[in-house]
Amino acid sequence: MSKVDVVLGTFFGDEGKGKIIDYLATKADVAVRCSGGSNAGHTINVNGKKYAFHLIPSGILSENTKAIIGNGVVVDPKILIEEMNELESNGISVDNLYISTKAHIVLPYHIMMDKLLEQNRGNNKIGTTARGIGPAYCDKYERCGIRVEDFISPKFDELVRRNIENKNKIFKAYGYETLDADAVINEYKNYANILKPHVVDTVNLLHDYLDEGKKILCEGAQATLLDIDFGTYPFVTSSNPTIGGICTGTGLGAKDIGEVYGVLKAYASKVGEGPFLTEQDNEIGDTIRELGHEYGTTTKRPRRCGWLDLVALKYVVRINGITGLAINHMDTIGHFSKIKACVGYNHNGEISTNYSTNVDYIKECTPIYEEFDGDFGDISKIKSREDLPENAKIYLKRIEEFVGVPVKFIGTGAGREEMIIC
Ligand code: GDP
Ligand code: IMO
Ligand code: MG
Repeated sequence: MSKVDVVLGTFFGDEGKGKIIDYLATKADVAVRCSGGSNAGHTINVNGKKYAFHLIPSGILSENTKAIIGNGVVVDPKILIEEMNELESNGISVDNLYISTKAHIVLPYHIMMDKLLEQNRGNNKIGTTARGIGPAYCDKYERCGIRVEDFISPKFDELVRRNIENKNKIFKAYGYETLDADAVINEYKNYANILKPHVVDTVNLLHDYLDEGKKILCEGAQATLLDIDFGTYPFVTSSNPTIGGICTGTGLGAKDIGEVYGVLKAYASKVGEGPFLTEQDNEIGDTIRELGHEYGTTTKRPRRCGWLDLVALKYVVRINGITGLAINHMDTIGHFSKIKACVGYNHNGEISTNYSTNVDYIKECTPIYEEFDGDFGDISKIKSREDLPENAKIYLKRIEEFVGVPVKFIGTGAGREEMIIC
């Protein structure tokens, strides 16, 4: 490992970041979540037991690895405590969990606002996870957000009271139920007391760890095409799940970052609305969904499925400076006898291999596909890339060639062990 290695999602999320993080965390001393909130859902399958992480870094499963929730995260205390309890009930200690003083808190009015905004969007809805993420980041930038350090201090009462007063005006205007500030304060004070022992200045903590020679793994959530700046706006989340968000979400400097792993699936999937050129809203997409169990970890929604988009992947590699690819679900795609991957966008006869996030442009494009032979057979026990069937090797090689980055991990099944480390 370098001083700091990074794992990022490449497309629309759910690429199997959790599984790659789970492995890399065994080499790291610290795992840190940098952005997003409980909209994330990272699954890890350990000996038949399924863990779903929303806020706690999945690196916590690795014994002795410290888990940090960085300043860039928006923390729903209720969900965090539920997740801590769930881990402890499975015999996993949360003593090594640290929460940044500077992270922002998600409160009930954020969740109400998320739902209200989605309803008002009507046909233009984004398809958010309804976890209050957008409204919490809005408050952060409006500078009325409540940071963890204020959440655990006596200041909380006044801050939350002021916010609820303002939010209630909006809820009233829309004919929604309003919030009772006292009830929220009473409930959330209990959460603050539970979380208080875990709250630290994680920026200095991370730098102290670096000085001690410890290895840090930055755990990306969401993915590049969901990025507020670089994604398919407005069908995006409200944070920067790209490389810049790693620095702003932790306080770590760019000079210490070594490997940047981009995680993808051998096909593509998406939850929520927005353009998805290679989507197969047909039998192919249905087959991928069933074979790959493509249902949301957080919202249980069926995921939209389609072929891999190499044009988008090239863009993602550029934006993030990806140094290595982790390609999951090679087992799933290997069930097909013919596999397609998009290698160009055709816009009224003009062919481009440069991705554009303009949603109107994408809607007007048709994909240019390259076809590959599949039928990989059972690859779940294979431990070396050399031993993969020839068709799988050809597919991987073409992906590498197209984006100019080597494959470092190959997912061959959902289980922790079902992975080839190149
Ligand atoms: P994340 O949000 O990027 O961590 O991904 P999710 O956990 O939301 O979704 C990925 C899903 O794919 C999970 O159910 C994983 O257990 C599963 N998965 C990951 N890698 C593989 C793989 O190589 N093969 C198969 N069949 N499943 C995988
Ligand atoms: P992980 O970390 C997949 C999507 C939502 C919606 C859009 C905005 O598991 O990959 P939000 O609630 O963030 O305002 O919703 O972003 N989205 C995700 N999709 N995986 C995720 O996280 C996601 N986090 C947000 O479905 O389209
Ligand atoms: Mg997920």
